[in-house]
Amino acid sequence: MSEQPQTEPHPLRSRLGGRNLYLVGMMGSGKSSSGRPLAKALGYGFVDADPVIEQVAGRSIPQIFAEDGEAGFRAIEAQVLQAIGQRHSLVVATGGGVVTKPENWGVLHQGIVIWLDPSPEQLLNRLESDTTQRPLLTTDNPGETLHALLQERVPLYKEADLHLQVTDQSAEQVATMVLNNLPSILRSDQGAPGAPQTTGG
Ligand code: S3P
Repeated sequence: MSEQPQTEPHPLRSRLGGRNLYLVGMMGSGKSSSGRPLAKALGYGFVDADPVIEQVAGRSIPQIFAEDGEAGFRAIEAQVLQAIGQRHSLVVATGGGVVTKPENWGVLHQGIVIWLDPSPEQLLNRLESDTTQRPLLTTDNPGETLHALLQERVPLYKEADLHLQVTDQSAEQVATMVLNNLPSILRSDQGAPGAPQTTGG
């Protein structure tokens, strides 16, 4: 029996019909690290929105926040998301606050939205060494700030099509969780996402 060629498309690819997969979730939830292996498995492209924002602005994210404030950053983020939404067959790692601007949902809902949701403790652990790249957390008490942001955003993240509670899985394992759970939201009749699903570890 001959071996399947390595380029054999993933079985989910045709069911996705080119729709983008948008990974949403708080800073430190693993969107960028798990997005890459997920894209690779599907034969999709991968886009990390934050570096695109930096490229478009010609400035680092902390610089944009310092000079234009959060509102200025959100305006560029929305513009970048619109441009990404014109493309297809992408896994997109979004910035944690993309869900806060209602107009962004017009783009997100054209694809499939996946919420990666580690516990607040895990998020803090991961972010501890890394707050300088995340201006919203450069406060006197990043833990408290993170909790406040979570309170504000969890109702928005809940708008995702798929909710994955992650614990200590590797990026590859999270990508596999996504692949394993995607069929539950892909209706075989028309390929549109069905009711939101929550899955743990
Ligand atoms: C932000 C998250 C960051 C970045 C910016 C704002 C947020 O992206 O977009 O600092 O509001 O949560 P990551 O979620 O990739 O860290």
